[in-house]
Formats: sequence, C-alpha cells, structure tokens
Amino acid sequence: MDKKYRFSHKHILGLEDLSSADIDFILNTADSFKEISSRPIKKVPTLRGKTVIHLFFEPSTRTRLSFEIAAKRMSADTFNIAASTSSAQKGETLVDTARNLTAMNPDIIVIRHSSSGSPRLLANHIKASVINAGDGAHEHPSQGLLDLMTVKEQKGRISGLKIAIIGDIAHSRVAHSDIIGFSKMGAEVRVSGPATMLPPGIDKLGARVCRTREEAVEDADVVMALRIQKERQTDPLFPTLREYAACFGISKKVLKSAGPDAMVMHPGPINRGVEMDPDVADGRRSVILEQVTNGVAIRMALLYLIMGQDGNE
Ligand code: CP
Repeated sequence: MDKKYRFSHKHILGLEDLSSADIDFILNTADSFKEISSRPIKKVPTLRGKTVIHLFFEPSTRTRLSFEIAAKRMSADTFNIAASTSSAQKGETLVDTARNLTAMNPDIIVIRHSSSGSPRLLANHIKASVINAGDGAHEHPSQGLLDLMTVKEQKGRISGLKIAIIGDIAHSRVAHSDIIGFSKMGAEVRVSGPATMLPPGIDKLGARVCRTREEAVEDADVVMALRIQKERQTDPLFPTLREYAACFGISKKVLKSAGPDAMVMHPGPINRGVEMDPDVADGRRSVILEQVTNGVAIRMALLYLIMGQDGNE
C-alpha cells in the first residue's frame, strides 16, 4: 500500500466509485474490526456521539440488521425508518424526506431504495454521508465488499481467481457490485443465466458471458448463485421454477466440474431447491453464513472510514 494513501470518500454509493486501493484498504480495515464482534463486550467508543439513520424503502434482513449492529458496536446512536411507516406513504418525495432528515443533523444515512440512483440523489441534497444499502438493480456496494472479504479470507487472495456468478444477472445489484469489485481486484468473472436475465453490455463491467452454467462453473474457485429478483420483473423471464433449477440451479453434480476447493456463495435470501440445492447451501463448500458474519465487519469499516477515521471529522 502506498504510504501516501488516504481514504477520502464521504459517501459509499457504489464500487464503481472505488479504486482497487480503496477496496484493499476497506478489506484490511474490516479485518481489523472483525475481532470486536467475538469479544464478550462487543462495543468500542469509535463513533460515540454520531447519529446513523437507516432509511429502508425495501425489505431487508441481513443488510439492515448488520448495519445497525455495526453502528451500535461502534457506539453510534441509530434510528430506523421503514417505508411502511415513513411519510413517503403520504406522498413526500425522497428529496423532501432528505431535507427533513438533514434538519435533524444526522452524520450518516444508510438507504435502500427500489430506484437506481436514489442514494446519489440523496447525497446531492444533504450534508450527511450516504451509504447505498442497495438501489434498484444498480449496486449493493457493502454486499460486494463483504463478498470480496469472504473470498480473500478463505482463499488468501482475490487476484487470479475464477469467479462464476449464476442466475438473474440483469436485476441483481449484488451481481453488478460483485462483477465490478472482483474485476477491479484482478479476478476473472464469468456470468451465466437465462438469456432473458443477461443484460446487454454486462461484459463491459468486466464479466465473461458464458452460454451455459457448466461453462461458467468449469474449474471455478468460487461459485455464486443469485436470487431470482421477482420484484424487479414485470413478466415471467423463464417458463417454470423447475426448468430454472434444472438449467441454472447449483447442485452437487454441477459442482463436480468446479475447482477441487471451490467455495459456494449466495447473498441471500436463498430460494432453496431453485437457485441452490439445500445440501449445497448447507454443505462443506458453503460460506454463506461467513458472508453474513463478514457483513458486520465490512459495515463497521465503512461507517468508520467515511467519518474520517477518527470519528471526529
Ligand atoms: N443480501 C441482502 O441484501 O440481504 P437482505 O435483503 O436480507 O438485506
């Protein structure tokens, strides 16, 4: 790492905005924070006096909870707003909501929204730092980072690895962040899925499009399945779930052609028996719960770094 390097991002809106040095620095910072979560007293004073608002306009279990746990473990004050209980239900615009939140002087707003670009819109209208917790089909940067951390932890490196991402690439913000992140860190990314779920131009992000699941998985070091994003599809994009599972599901048989130490990932939530067989999801190659554990460390690192690293800027 260059001695002059300094993390200088106020917002985390997408991995598209981060350099490989930024990503490396975030992964190393997260690694140093991970140990806090295994202490008997899981709390450090780093963000004492800081206010973090979680503004979630879409459902979430892992992301919302791990951001909240991360902020609380760093002693920040946290507040949650869900779409169903916010004034968005009464027609308030996102910008008006942002201006009203700013009037209460928060330090960080973590936002999940169905519209791509809404975290950037928010960042342009408020004083606080903004973290994108998933915007439409655009990006899910903290998920991309926790996936990178999990691979680096398990394999000791990212550069040179073969990463197969299978499923609904078109509607998956995780796929977009992972393709950008893994490519920037020197991995070879392959994608496969039904033709209706492969967006044109995905190769420009750094992924090789494979005709079949088998071509993507061949010799892969990492096999990641994605959830079918029904909430972002207007018409059915494949005939039946049974056919999807037969052509794009990850089974033990499919994994036979992967590398001997291939690990299996899924961002969750999993549709068992569709994207992945239960014996694969729960099997020895699976690191799905390690991904969740690392999510807390990555989110602690992001909160810490965007606050200027001493929590006082
Ligand atoms: N991986 C992920 O974003 O999960 P949640 O929707 O539960 O947050």
